[in-house]
Amino acid sequence: MLTTLPAGMHTPAYVLDEAKLAANLETAARIKRETGCKMLLATKAFSLPAAFPMMREVLDGSTASGLYEARMGHEDFGKEVHVYAPAFTPAELTELTKFAKHIYFNSPRQLKRFLPLVRKAPGIHVGLRVNPGYSMATLGGPLYDPCAPNSRFGTPRAELDDAPWDEIDILHVHALCEATDVGSVGLIEHVGRELGDYVRRVKAVNFGGGHFVNRAPFDVAALIDGIKAFKAKFNVEVILEPGAGLVVDAGYLVASVLDIHRNGAEIAILDASASCHMPDVLEVPYTPPVLNAAKPGVHAHTYILAGNTCMTGDVIGEYSFASPLSIGDRVIFGDMMQYTFVKNNTFNGQPLPDLAILQRDGTYRVIKSFGYGDFRGKLG
Ligand SMILES: Cc1ncc(COP(=O)(O)O)c(C=O)c1O
Repeated sequence: MLTTLPAGMHTPAYVLDEAKLAANLETAARIKRETGCKMLLATKAFSLPAAFPMMREVLDGSTASGLYEARMGHEDFGKEVHVYAPAFTPAELTELTKFAKHIYFNSPRQLKRFLPLVRKAPGIHVGLRVNPGYSMATLGGPLYDPCAPNSRFGTPRAELDDAPWDEIDILHVHALCEATDVGSVGLIEHVGRELGDYVRRVKAVNFGGGHFVNRAPFDVAALIDGIKAFKAKFNVEVILEPGAGLVVDAGYLVASVLDIHRNGAEIAILDASASCHMPDVLEVPYTPPVLNAAKPGVHAHTYILAGNTCMTGDVIGEYSFASPLSIGDRVIFGDMMQYTFVKNNTFNGQPLPDLAILQRDGTYRVIKSFGYGDFRGKLG
């Protein structure tokens, strides 16, 4: 828990709480131990190579959304590299086949087109993403539901017989977002019920991500029972590839108050921005937790917390604090590891936050600080 901040700490900074990550990994270890399933880190949610040594002690590898993530998984995570994208290019796949030994295609068309290329490389396990038609994404409504109408993700039921099943090793479904055990077990049972004929033709089923195993009220025992029952019925390997569920509540974004503006409300302008550093706050949208703060009006001093960009909507939320905020005060946002720094940007020339780790012995380690070069470098 980030109770005391290091003196002179630079902000903004994303801070991984190593003790909390270790506790989350315990859950992963339990699921693996009790079910014999494989578990991968979805690096789209969390790509912090400095944390990978700890994660690879428990997990079986990583899963990527394309070439660059897959390369990072190979070079920095090690172990198995899985990759899925809605569409691949020949050049991308040629590179991928050098180190990603589990490649998932989105449709029978993509799979048939690229099978000759994939078969040139030895030992590749071929997967097909199926759209299971199971809408249970808890977060964000249709925006985060891979099975929403007209979704581009996965082969619809009606096209499954077009696939060359003798060439397919893994059936993949990803349908969840921040699901409780009800969604996770529901998906597993749904696949068993609706897609059993196809499951019987493969060696493994990958139930994707979105299993929010480290956030109450997720019942881990129920997921374990669900996986065991599926494996007992179909005698296949089971793979899970969560991102958010492995790092939920395992870190912070620490910001400083730059100014207090008054316009019908007290507005604290921060050096952290919703637009640049926590885009899901605007996209989902949601209001992130702030340490030692509550909903507006609960404590005596209520503020709108906002970023320092030109975008009017760069507002993080409204919170109340027991003491008034002053310039230089630190504001600590919680649950800031998933889908934050992997998505950040330098809009308005905003500096990128430091990446740091609060280590288990309480020491604070800055992994990387960024500067003008990072902003200028990507502009050509
Ligand atoms: C195919 C696939 N696998 C895994 C994940 C990870 O999901 P989460 O971070 O919600 O666990 C995603 C997220 O979009 C995904 O699209």
